[in-house]
Amino acid sequence: MASLSARATLIRGDGIGPEIMDATLSVLQAAGVRMEWDEQLAGVAAVEEAGTPLPDATVESIRHTGVALKGPLTTPVGTGFRSVNVALRKEFDLFANVRPAKSILPGSRYDNVDIVLVRENTEGLYFGFETIIPLPGEPKAVAESVAIVTRRGCERVIRYAFEYALANGRRKVTICHKANILKAVSGLFLEVGREVSRAYEGRVAVDEIIVDAAAMKLVMDPSPFDVIVTTNMFGDILSDEIAGLVGGLGLAPGANVGERAAIFEAVHGSAPDIAGLSVANPAALMFAACLMLEHLKEPAAAKRVRRAVEETLRERKVRTRDLGGHASTQAFADAVSQRLS
Ligand code: NAI
Ligand code: MG
Repeated sequence: MASLSARATLIRGDGIGPEIMDATLSVLQAAGVRMEWDEQLAGVAAVEEAGTPLPDATVESIRHTGVALKGPLTTPVGTGFRSVNVALRKEFDLFANVRPAKSILPGSRYDNVDIVLVRENTEGLYFGFETIIPLPGEPKAVAESVAIVTRRGCERVIRYAFEYALANGRRKVTICHKANILKAVSGLFLEVGREVSRAYEGRVAVDEIIVDAAAMKLVMDPSPFDVIVTTNMFGDILSDEIAGLVGGLGLAPGANVGERAAIFEAVHGSAPDIAGLSVANPAALMFAACLMLEHLKEPAAAKRVRRAVEETLRERKVRTRDLGGHASTQAFADAVSQRLS
């Protein structure tokens, strides 16, 4: 770690959040990672303490540090407050959702998956431009959702994918689209993708694939894929698909990145069914912490922590219940920490 400790906002979250965060922090400490954490509240815990799910102090803290490690936050269904995760994404314009998927456990469906999916996180069909159009006697006659894609939006996420590839020694970026049918929105994404890729010629290879073909090829043989960049909804679907290729939720980290801030978290939610039981798998949040360390330009620390988590998982001795083991959340963390000391 660099001599000065990096500053970051810490949000423990709710449900299994505090358990997996404690486990993750203990591993970072064992790795000698020195962070200056600014702990803040969000979600259910914030409603209880501060009367709002996203206190100004939390937003201010992230604005100041530019980096947050976040536990999962419960979103009440039906009534109650709106998703804090979405609010944070909007507040900080976190346009790139980065989800790596890598084979770790022998015996999974594939042992050669090493894919990073970069999903546009703010535009497309999820922009929220939706209407229900009534006709006489038929209140919900027509439904309309408009996809909005901007040149600037395409450019920044595609450029992010290429820069990510360069910074992480990746060989190829695949632009995933449906430009044959959606000639406007997906056509623009592809066109901008081709333009952006020219600046990386000779450094990062580029190819193109239509999204339905990508879905099929990923399950038949994921090995040719490296970095994939795509629009919001395609990315939503394909990122779950690639998580499924490597063993699912307990191992999948994600980063939400914007120009001013980045928030790192596990892909899974607050798992209320197992909260407080000390059985949750903290590996996904530990991998998310590694993404954060890379973002903070601490690749060596990230590599050490990641390797220790992966080796612990591969050894099969200490595993949490979701992976067929009996270890508690903290016991898994202790096994990882032992490898680091
Ligand atoms: P979930 O991901 O919390 O749980 C789905 C299933 O996976 C459950 O059976 C759970 O026990 C299991 N699981 C999840 N993480 C695990 C882990 N680390 N170790 C072992 N098992 C694990 O999804 P669900 O139940 O749909 O959502 C629960 C709450 O979380 C909801 O309020 C939802 O809105 C919220 N959520 C928050 C997210 C975030 O903060 N980024 C992301 C996804 C959901
Ligand atoms: Mg999704």
